[in-house]
Amino acid sequence: MGSSRGEFMISKRIACIGAGYVGGPTMAVIAMKCPQYKVNVVDVSEARIKAWQTDNLPIFEPGLLDVVRAARGRNLFFSTEISAAIRESEVIFVSVNTPTKTFGEGAGKAADLQYWEKVAREILRESGSSKIVVEKSTLPVKTAQTMENILNANGKKVHFEVISNPEFLAEGTAVKDLLEPDRVLIGSRETPQGFAARQEIVDIYANWVPKDRILTSNVWSAELSKLVANAFLAQRISSINSISALCEKTDASVQEVARAVGMDSRIGSRFLNASVGFGGSCFKKDILNLVYICESYGLQEAARYWESVLAMNEFQETRFVRTIIREMFNTIVGKRIALFGFAFKADTSDTRESPSIYVARKLLEERAFVAVTDPKALDNARIDLAGYKENLDFVEDPYEAAKGAHAVAIMTEWAMYRSLDWENIYRSMEKPAFLFDGRNVLNHEQLYNLGFNVYPLGRPPLKHF
Ligand code: UDX
Ligand code: UDX
Repeated sequence: MGSSRGEFMISKRIACIGAGYVGGPTMAVIAMKCPQYKVNVVDVSEARIKAWQTDNLPIFEPGLLDVVRAARGRNLFFSTEISAAIRESEVIFVSVNTPTKTFGEGAGKAADLQYWEKVAREILRESGSSKIVVEKSTLPVKTAQTMENILNANGKKVHFEVISNPEFLAEGTAVKDLLEPDRVLIGSRETPQGFAARQEIVDIYANWVPKDRILTSNVWSAELSKLVANAFLAQRISSINSISALCEKTDASVQEVARAVGMDSRIGSRFLNASVGFGGSCFKKDILNLVYICESYGLQEAARYWESVLAMNEFQETRFVRTIIREMFNTIVGKRIALFGFAFKADTSDTRESPSIYVARKLLEERAFVAVTDPKALDNARIDLAGYKENLDFVEDPYEAAKGAHAVAIMTEWAMYRSLDWENIYRSMEKPAFLFDGRNVLNHEQLYNLGFNVYPLGRPPLKHF
């Protein structure tokens, strides 16, 4: 298909509406792997699109800049021209955000589908020919039906087929997850037109994903599988976190328990790291959504079961703050506490639903002085804590953040925290110096020997008094 000059005939035009954490990286990988397609990524946010056009991308994701640079200007384009992108494309991915509804019926649980519906109507208005519309956003099961009803209620004689193709990438490993996915899931209606559309999407991924990893299903199964995958992952973390609380009371070590349990091949070893709590834009939102769906079908017991996964996560965050206050002699008024990490996990600048937000707020309410440090997420941290003006500092350098502090709390498992000069940090702190490891990433015995009072998660503390 390619000519000797490295140029390609365009065989498919793809648009993606929503240039966020999901849309941006996914389309960049499709464009890099498929030079024969033209990929237009569009968004209402001019600032976001401008950033995608520079080397200062709007999101930090290891390896992403190389992927973007390989295709940008060749067959990957970023713009705010949503109408034009819709008109010229045969396949339209939609990855606008679907936050938890904050108003009216289902507030606090149901997904807010207003952006999705707005986009569907825009697609309908601009389309002069039949198109495949791909749900990339995570949506409640049965949304495809609603979308088809809206899209196909037209007098235009154009037909829309709605496909569910949920994205399973995790932030921080997005590029790797996209290049070598465990599986790609593509759901369609089981009609001749549905099967044909399904095949078109299979063909896109088959450019680089082995066939046996491309799963197809009916459209409802695909929509529901995304919610269920996230619920199961979150449930594992809540399960191990509940055990971390018990370990602290019983001299057991949660890491040893996790290793012993995880070596059972039926259980598996991943996603068993106890933590201060899970964050990220998906887990809470998707579980709330699952709870709402169960409730709306009258399945109260199923709803309560999944709700408990969230309750355990809140318990873990609350417990972390309570331990800090209790161990620091029941008062933290005026004490400097350095939060190491604000991102919801390592290798991302994203702070959505980060446990750090909750912990920082609680500490500030207790009138501590909070110094926040993070290698990538300080800009977002400033936005998250914008309501707090006093007793708060944002510091690039972790050594500066810890200087004069009574305590350091590890909130994000950034690799750099392991290799800091902890002796130096200890010397610069107020005494007694406390260290609360909310991610169990440091060498606790070594820190104890340096003089710290160390509070790992899911293990009894190492205290000098
Ligand atoms: C995605 C999914 O779409 C969401 O459903 C899933 O659960 C998590 O991942 P994400 O990419 O993380 O969301 O969201 P975000 O980074 O907020 O990106 C969404 C983009 O859509 C934003 O850049 C926003 O400007 C854009 N948008 C939103 C539009 O272009 N049009 C709209 O009408 C609304
Ligand atoms: C998640 C899913 O993994 C991904 O498949 C889906 O597409 C989007 O939601 P993400 O939220 O980006 O991805 O990150 P993930 O690695 O799942 O971590 C979520 C949270 O769980 C983070 O706060 C992380 O620190 C925490 N976590 C993870 C733990 O506390 N312990 C673990 O063992 C694993």
